[in-house]
Amino acid sequence: MSTRTPLMAGNWKMNLDWKQGLALVEELGEQLKDVDTSKVETVVLPPFVDIRTVQTAVEAGKLPIAYGAQDISEHESGAYTGEVSGPMLSALGCTYVAVGHSERRQYHGETEQITNNKVKAAFAAGLTPILCVGEPLEERKAGKHVEYTLAQLEGGIEGLDVEQAKQIVIAYEPVWAIGTGEVATPDDAQEVCAAIREALQAIYGAEVAGAVRVLYGGSVKSANVAELMEKQDVDGALVGGASLKAEEFAKIAGFQG
Ligand code: PGA
Repeated sequence: MSTRTPLMAGNWKMNLDWKQGLALVEELGEQLKDVDTSKVETVVLPPFVDIRTVQTAVEAGKLPIAYGAQDISEHESGAYTGEVSGPMLSALGCTYVAVGHSERRQYHGETEQITNNKVKAAFAAGLTPILCVGEPLEERKAGKHVEYTLAQLEGGIEGLDVEQAKQIVIAYEPVWAIGTGEVATPDDAQEVCAAIREALQAIYGAEVAGAVRVLYGGSVKSANVAELMEKQDVDGALVGGASLKAEEFAKIAGFQG
């Protein structure tokens, strides 16, 4: 484990309407009372339509939970039907936004260029992007997982300045481990998270590489989070399924015991 503040982000995906989201976030606030929240950052990424409700609950209860969105438009405003812009998200008190999740890349045709534009749109709106990268099974089987993931990383961060690079969060999510119950081994996670940090060091230098939080994602749960977090270059987790239960997600946030 490193000296960087661990970050546990719950990606709700297309689950929970606003009432269910409200119940979850209130319950999570309760459960986090048993966790030393000065030592870990806990973030939820609800569907867009839940965010206003989450904002109200977090503010009213002074809950130790940050929140954000699962996607962002490349554009700031205008005739882009169905899209939600960065300024709209920051007006709701969002601080994070996931960009380039494999489900966006796979089902919505998000290219490297779109992902890069979205990373920049996040920064322009004062949001911290959580840039998701990671290889499909074929690339892993061919031994090309590091190369593939680093190409996505480099495409996603293209053109960022040093301050932005220092702030970005990278989530390494091997596609074959997402929602499958098949978690990468801690050594697999470490291998790619370390390669990501080395690539950041080569582009931006040691200070940036030492500051950036690199998360692992893919079938993380309370039973496997601690061994992943023991690894030097794993600074947190992007959690899908296990973030939908308050008790379970609070246990993940409280991985330090
Ligand atoms: P999972 O999803 O934890 O359900 O595998 C992770 C993700 O897609 O972020």
